[in-house]
Amino acid sequence: MNQMANAALVSEAYKVPDYVQHAKLGAWVREIAALTKPEQIRWCDGSQAEYDMLCDEMVRAGTLTRLNAEKRPNSFLARSDPDDVARMEDRTFVCSATQDQAGPNNNWVAPAEMRVTLNKLFDGCMRGRTMYVIPFSMGPIGSPIAHIGIELSDSPYVAINMRIMTRMGRKALEALGSDGFFVPCVHSVGMPLAAGQKDVAWPSNKQDKYIVHFPEDKSIWSFGSGYGGNALLGKKCFALRIASIMAREQGWFAEHKLILGIESPDGRKDYVAAAFPSACGKTNLAMLVPPAEMKGWKITTVGEDIAWIKPGKDGRLYAINPESGYFGVAPGTSVESNPNAMATLHKNVIFTNVALTSDGDVWWEGMTKTPPAKLIDWQGQEWTPDCGRKAAHPNARFTVPASQCPSLDPEWENPQGVPISAFLYGGRRSEGVPLVYESFNWDSGVYAGATMGSETTAASTGAVGVVRRDPMAMLPFCGYNMADYFGHWLEMGRKLNNPPRIFSVNWFRLSSEGKFLWPGFGENMRVLKWIIERCRGQANALQTPLGWMPRFEDLDWRGLDFSREKFTDLMALDRTMLARELSEHDALFKKLELRLPRKLQLEREMLGLSLV
Ligand code: OXD
Ligand code: MN
Repeated sequence: MNQMANAALVSEAYKVPDYVQHAKLGAWVREIAALTKPEQIRWCDGSQAEYDMLCDEMVRAGTLTRLNAEKRPNSFLARSDPDDVARMEDRTFVCSATQDQAGPNNNWVAPAEMRVTLNKLFDGCMRGRTMYVIPFSMGPIGSPIAHIGIELSDSPYVAINMRIMTRMGRKALEALGSDGFFVPCVHSVGMPLAAGQKDVAWPSNKQDKYIVHFPEDKSIWSFGSGYGGNALLGKKCFALRIASIMAREQGWFAEHKLILGIESPDGRKDYVAAAFPSACGKTNLAMLVPPAEMKGWKITTVGEDIAWIKPGKDGRLYAINPESGYFGVAPGTSVESNPNAMATLHKNVIFTNVALTSDGDVWWEGMTKTPPAKLIDWQGQEWTPDCGRKAAHPNARFTVPASQCPSLDPEWENPQGVPISAFLYGGRRSEGVPLVYESFNWDSGVYAGATMGSETTAASTGAVGVVRRDPMAMLPFCGYNMADYFGHWLEMGRKLNNPPRIFSVNWFRLSSEGKFLWPGFGENMRVLKWIIERCRGQANALQTPLGWMPRFEDLDWRGLDFSREKFTDLMALDRTMLARELSEHDALFKKLELRLPRKLQLEREMLGLSLV
């Protein structure tokens, strides 16, 4: 076909709807369509009718199974390709102008070189498919803390998930106006269809997977995977990696933190934001149900994964949850571990890689003590409890609207955000790290967050039980050099009035017999109460080399039989362990030494001196 005829064809098939006022957006969509060559383009309006239509289409295509309408109304099960089940950190790149800007915490390729690779991969990659234009707002539409993105994807599964996870569709486009800033996100499953070629239920690319961020133009390109954070680009790619870069440039924070409200019996309320690496019970904490004996204490949920936090006019920090849904790990979730999550999952859920029961409902490991006698597992195979395989994939997920959560905070959509009184940092540490301590000040708190570690579990790759340093739970998500990120935290502290207090927690310490010393779950309320009372100047504490710690009598023990001796074990500071811990901090700082803020090194030295 000659060039002019081709251009005319492209022009017709890729027509931009009249209601699209944003000339730059229209031109970009056409440019990406010309590269990826989809059969058609669908501009998503975000309506229920559109969602239902896409779900019906995916049921027909075999991508979704509709669940029992009585047990799980309007809910579906998706089974992914067995090779496409999780975020892929080794295929994730930050292509800043120099490697030093990306830092040792990111995979880096020179932007020009990466663009050549991506141009080849994306050329024609959407052939035979529909390209969905997915406008979305991260955060309540119009909030001064929110930002807009546009994802172009050839996956209808991505389109329906984005409708739950973000404010998606026409309203986001309207908020963008004719010249608003948006983060351009391009996603393809990387499996073009030749004429007449039959599609598979979960298309992906077996050879090539790339999740790429370009800090200079704030763009995201993802190829080859249809799963979770690799494909729902508003989440980890935008709301954390790209947003962390924007936050540094503009003076705010984009954090891997849950946000919860704590209300005391007198009706006073404070909000805290807490960072934990994967598999440390973040969703459980965000939806915690306090023990019955702690009458009048209440926990409410603003977010369970990501917080965008900006300074308000009063010099305090205000946070929003940029997401509007939960993309949570299903295994381990039960009525005992998280009754609020279970109630949230009642209807309107997309489950991915869980098991199917014979009556058309779902099941996963940990949901009930006794598994059903027969299931269809996450790969579509028959399953019995003695078959030796997992029924659900360990990273099986649910996607569900936040609005269904019984513990949802009434302010969760307040465009101004909620004021933050405390930051919490926590990891999974079987020894040496006490239940809770409060850092002496902002800088020592930044040090505690920067050096936090967590033991690896079977859910992550590599050896189990090894402590991995995961600064502020941002290791896989900070879009620039981690040393500069620490510098940003230190600098922001100087600009705040009355900055949040910073606490470190560890729910996972073991006794010498290898048993958990702390019951966790709802009992964590006792720790949260002490934290909030510290923020309000109401609770006592003991000064230790690490910071301020509660004594036995400083915690509320109503309804829990917990001995003073056990508490002593739970809080003990062991000098040998702390010395080993400090040498691991040194190893982390060594990796970042070229740009490490001097202030953190000083904090390290002071801590060392306080131990001798
Ligand atoms: C997540 C993660 O999926 O942190 O939220 O890995
Ligand atoms: Mn997360």
